[in-house]
Amino acid sequence: MATPRITVLAGDGIGPEIVASALEVLNQIGDFEFDHHEFGGCSIDSTGVALTDETLAACRDSDAVLLGAVGGPKWDTTDPDAPRPEQGLLGLRSGLGLFANLRPVKPLAALADASPLRPEVIGGCDLLVVRELTGGIYFGKRGREGDSAFDTCEYTVEEIERIARVAFRSARSGVTSVDKANVLETSRLWRETVVALHEREFPEVKLDHLLVDNAAMQLVSEPTAFDVILTENLFGDILSDEAAMITGSIGLLPSASLGLDGPGVFEPVHGSAPDIAGTGKANPYATLLSVAMMLRHGLEMPEHATAVESAVDSAIADGVRTADLGGAATTDDATQAVLQRLNS
Ligand code: IPM
Ligand code: MG
Repeated sequence: MATPRITVLAGDGIGPEIVASALEVLNQIGDFEFDHHEFGGCSIDSTGVALTDETLAACRDSDAVLLGAVGGPKWDTTDPDAPRPEQGLLGLRSGLGLFANLRPVKPLAALADASPLRPEVIGGCDLLVVRELTGGIYFGKRGREGDSAFDTCEYTVEEIERIARVAFRSARSGVTSVDKANVLETSRLWRETVVALHEREFPEVKLDHLLVDNAAMQLVSEPTAFDVILTENLFGDILSDEAAMITGSIGLLPSASLGLDGPGVFEPVHGSAPDIAGTGKANPYATLLSVAMMLRHGLEMPEHATAVESAVDSAIADGVRTADLGGAATTDDATQAVLQRLNS
């Protein structure tokens, strides 16, 4: 097989540090070609936009995209005309047609004490948030008129069906579709479409529905009741941060953003943590777990994916914890611990 080509978008804040850790691990696994591009705030500084056409074209041309994190106080603004680092993320998602965002949440037994929830509540939790990523209020018409502002949420049957298929295919014990069908018209279409698709194509999968406010509550009261959570863009954004805390730290959550074909984007769920950038303290585990998702979903190297996941689990179980996990390990300590375990 030809050497996989990976576009690397390290981004801002701790992005370059956690991506450096990921590249060390990839270099140990095999031969990869890395093509680095500026993205987010640093790209705004040098080109005026968060994602240039050239960078998007490079991503399209590669086998997978590895992303660090974007943003920071330097680029925070409420000026609707000013460029924002997040526009890079949204441009990448729509430009590559990445409608399916997968965010697995599986707390490690070794970190039970790091979770704000009691061990008996989280024991056995193993869920996947399947978030629609290129529709809804994130991409609807928005604007300002005088002293009012608006954002619109739209979904089509086709958009709902394609993300629902991803959820049904990922299910082990069942799918919980989350909406706000008691209030929103898009949610009523969502529920209707999911029910019809379920009957037509996936009658053997268990399906239930929750309103998003109730889902937010159930997620912390009984997280083990969930297998796959299927939801729209904005609800998925919020619920996936909430679900992340079940593990004790958002520093452990990986994600994959996939389209129908073409390269996917693999990135940690956490942000650019500008407050600790450059201190060497950033937790690289979520990025390493995103590398595992890239190996599994993007490069068809599932054995290597499992090896990286086991190495991360074992490093954490052996107490190699970064500050966010209550330890004193540096980014490099954590990286070396994973490399060592990959070797043995
Ligand atoms: C995420 C992030 C992004 C989102 C932001 C940075 C635009 O929160 O990937 O969850 O809202 O989708
Ligand atoms: Mg988010």
